[in-house]
Amino acid sequence: MVIARLSAEETARIRAELVKVYREAWSTTKYALTRHQIRDFASVFDMHLGRDDFRAVTARDDPDGPMLGFAYGYTSAPGGWWRETVIDGLPKEATEVWFADSYEFVELAVIESARGRGLGGALHDALLEGIERKTSVLSTQCGNAAALALYRARGWTTISGDFRFPNRPYPYAVMGLVLNDRGRLRSSRE
Ligand SMILES: CC(C)(COP(=O)(O)OP(=O)(O)OC[C@H]1O[C@@H](n2cnc3c(N)ncnc32)[C@H](O)[C@@H]1OP(=O)(O)O)[C@@H](O)C(=O)NCCC(=O)NCCS
Repeated sequence: MVIARLSAEETARIRAELVKVYREAWSTTKYALTRHQIRDFASVFDMHLGRDDFRAVTARDDPDGPMLGFAYGYTSAPGGWWRETVIDGLPKEATEVWFADSYEFVELAVIESARGRGLGGALHDALLEGIERKTSVLSTQCGNAAALALYRARGWTTISGDFRFPNRPYPYAVMGLVLNDRGRLRSSRE
């Protein structure tokens, strides 16, 4: 497995491949996305490339082989749709803790044929490695057992277990991870 860390400029060059992996990964889940939603992802992704501290990580079996999975994120800043929607729906005390100095863990996806080999976990760890923020935040569907297990095993806690986004019919878990103690995260997985 080869995990590569990419800047926004480098990620822009593999945009088409990344969108393909996103479509393939989600198409095999019960949350299969429509073509419209895939297009939405692609255009939102283009905006995300310009966010502060954007970073993407990709997984391949060899450096020139096809992409098997990716993850990306950026520093959370006022004005972002996801951030503002979540902050609006959470108690103030929770947002003060989790959003004051935070890195948004935006997307993680591994194609079905490559799952169960540790790629998702390796992408997660590589994305957050060395991020100099106090916390990281994400949301995932409440019924997404694989993602929830992965995040919980890596120390994420649930901030809200029944969060409703206006553009999705199912509930989400909003989760947070303390980033300033990587040793604690390692020991929680042993
Ligand atoms: C979630 C996803 C990224 C996991 O990728 P993966 O490469 O299979 O993950 P790994 O092999 O690294 O597994 C890591 C951990 O995840 C958990 N896990 C993975 N698949 C699981 C499943 N089907 N059921 C329960 N737990 C699962 C386990 O805790 C596993 O820990 P282990 O190493 O002790 O077995 C992948 O299933 C995927 O892309 N799903 C569709 C997109 C998605 O849900 N993304 C998350 C968005 S927030």
